[in-house]
Amino acid sequence: MSSVVARSPDRVSKFLVPEIVFGHGALSEAGFAARRLDARRVFIVTDPGIVEAGWLTELQQHLDDVDLPYVVWHGVTPNPKDHEVAAGHRSYRESGADVIIGLGGGSVIDAAKAIAVLSTNGGQILDYEGVDRVTQAIPPLIMIPSTSGTGADLSQFCVITDTVRRIKATLIGRALVPNISITDPRLLVTMPEELNAATGLDALTHGIEAYVSRAASPLTDVHALTAIRLVSDNLLQTMDLPEDTDARAGMAQASLEAGLAFTNAILGATHAMSHQVGGALDLPHGVLNGVLLPHVMRFNAGACPERFVPVAQTLGVSVDRLSAQDAAYAAADRVRELADSVGVPKGLGDLGVTAEDIDQLSINTLGDACLTTNPRDASQDEISAIFRAAL
Ligand SMILES: [Fe+2]
Repeated sequence: MSSVVARSPDRVSKFLVPEIVFGHGALSEAGFAARRLDARRVFIVTDPGIVEAGWLTELQQHLDDVDLPYVVWHGVTPNPKDHEVAAGHRSYRESGADVIIGLGGGSVIDAAKAIAVLSTNGGQILDYEGVDRVTQAIPPLIMIPSTSGTGADLSQFCVITDTVRRIKATLIGRALVPNISITDPRLLVTMPEELNAATGLDALTHGIEAYVSRAASPLTDVHALTAIRLVSDNLLQTMDLPEDTDARAGMAQASLEAGLAFTNAILGATHAMSHQVGGALDLPHGVLNGVLLPHVMRFNAGACPERFVPVAQTLGVSVDRLSAQDAAYAAADRVRELADSVGVPKGLGDLGVTAEDIDQLSINTLGDACLTTNPRDASQDEISAIFRAAL
């Protein structure tokens, strides 16, 4: 039987957060933000999709307005790879820049953080896998997210694909918290629909995993529940009416609130498992979370069903006549309904995962830092069982 670690009401909580600039048109603050950080030359990390959407041109204009020179590097792919980080670092060193701006989705932002880590800590990015392995302060970071789910613009997390072991390596530590996060909901409009669905479900996963985490606190709970409510209220609307600015602002705030929650409460088994599948098969992070989350919720309900009652309520479940356990299961069903509504496949098998993959994926999951804050201890056999249920 799995053991359960009780949450202590007397525990002291810390809450780390960057300076946040939020709102329609916030991108125009980027030049001033860089100036506040005493930038003399800016290194912009982005990707070809953002360049094509025109956001890089707008950012460059704002840097021109404050007479700041910049160098652009856009060699990032989804699930950023160790060798891409190394190439970006070489480009950064040659640039002579002293402040880094990440303009894009979670992959771009994680790559920007990793380049910053190498610039002052040396070595290879995978040397820093784990908790608090980055010991030297990194260059100032300004992060500008273009999707509605990453949270990396706020978080002390950086996730990089280890292309040799074919897993995702998670780096965690206060050194990785960016200086300034700029969220402009306008940027969300140019995401492809499938990325909107995936990153929205990622934000939902951040909110739910943070709320039930062993490291959750009253300071994180309020942000976690707000994120869950905002995704529940707005994600479908952004799919049905892509130009609805209120819904986009709701999802931008959802991503932000979820990031505030999970960077401080950390995550759980859904992320520990999805990192392994994403690293092995180069699949979209948010889609994997959308498939895995309901299964992990049912597993975790065995340890802390009462924590899922507010989650269920926030998702619109009428809990009055339900036991805590049934409320947790209803919340899991509601998450699956939302995943269905935005076109997420039913199972991992639809994404190319096979039964033969499960043993190795489960072994790798045990080594992921996100598993430590999952509210229920999970053995390799139990993780395998969740993977089989999600197949
Ligand atoms: Fe995530």
